[in-house]
Amino acid sequence: MNEKNIILTGDRPTGRLHLGHYVGSLKRRVELQNSGKFDEINILIADDQALTDNADDPGKIRDNIVNVVLDYLSVGIDPAKTTICVQSALPALHALTFYYMNLVTTARLSRNPTIKAEIQMRGFSEEGLPAGFFTYPVSQTADITAFDANVVPVGEDQLPMLEQAREIVEKFNKIYGETLVLPKAMIPENEFQRRLPGVDGKAKMSKSLGNCIYLSDTSAAVKKQVNGKMYTDPLHLQISDPGHTEGNVVFTYLDALCTDEHFAEYLPEYANLEEMKAHYRKGGLGDGVCKKFLINVLEETLSPIRAEREKWANDIGSVYDIISSGTAKAVETTNKTLERVRKAMRIDYFVDRSIVKEWENLLKKSGQ
Ligand code: TRP
Repeated sequence: MNEKNIILTGDRPTGRLHLGHYVGSLKRRVELQNSGKFDEINILIADDQALTDNADDPGKIRDNIVNVVLDYLSVGIDPAKTTICVQSALPALHALTFYYMNLVTTARLSRNPTIKAEIQMRGFSEEGLPAGFFTYPVSQTADITAFDANVVPVGEDQLPMLEQAREIVEKFNKIYGETLVLPKAMIPENEFQRRLPGVDGKAKMSKSLGNCIYLSDTSAAVKKQVNGKMYTDPLHLQISDPGHTEGNVVFTYLDALCTDEHFAEYLPEYANLEEMKAHYRKGGLGDGVCKKFLINVLEETLSPIRAEREKWANDIGSVYDIISSGTAKAVETTNKTLERVRKAMRIDYFVDRSIVKEWENLLKKSGQ
């Protein structure tokens, strides 16, 4: 066990990452990475977890590993500071999952609200629910504990996973002695950043709803999403009508993204978002102006990311080397934890021959 500050977080490689990921987690990861406050930062590309509900389409996961790594690199995740690794290549995680399975009941797993919601979203029937999917919170506990992570930056929807992890850790340590680090979730501070809605105002950006802005989208695609799909305030018919900013997705995005510098640059009539909102509420500020400002803010956010992505996309060999060496490092880290766990559980038979003596004594004692 250690007193280090270690981060582990991760994503399922099921698609390219979007603005919701950026606002809700990627931006924060880069800040944490550059804060100098952590001894180790690890990002896990959770391809095994992605397979729990994509067993019939492994090619999709294989293809999206590169997309997700490109997204990481393009937002500023620096492989010199952050270890990026691939879950399926870390055998210790599989072994840990198997042991942790015994420390959690099926009843407890069925109460997990995130799993419940995900089952419903995917339309799994009771008979059609893959056991792997149902138990992925246990595998996620393996991810977290294998890295000795004490800090796990995640979205709010992952809080039940952390609760489950803490329960397993506590149970493990109680039965086998202090072995595992108790992890803690770290969720975004800004409520607007916790969950960026889709451009259509629906609760979440999702590929199937076509309401995403991807980090890799062209400026034309971004513009099209804002102008074509973002509704504003249905009661704001004339520019002079008083408007509502709450529940108005243009303002929700501005809340999550814009800074006073953006105003100075693109909309100097206002010093900040509060002034702009006040004018909109009073009446006299048109939706076109608001959308145009948002497009400028989005462009300023996304264009450096896009440029960086293009650079890496032309050098996939280096991208491969980054995850290959990150994974090799993670193999060592996670194997060490597995060794510690096996020792605590007294199933470390083959590290040395000491058990030979133990067995001999045992047999002697029983008179054989
Ligand atoms: N379940 C997480 C998600 O869907 C991804 C994930 C896998 C993860 N393993 C993790 C997150 C470990 C944090 C720590 O977003």
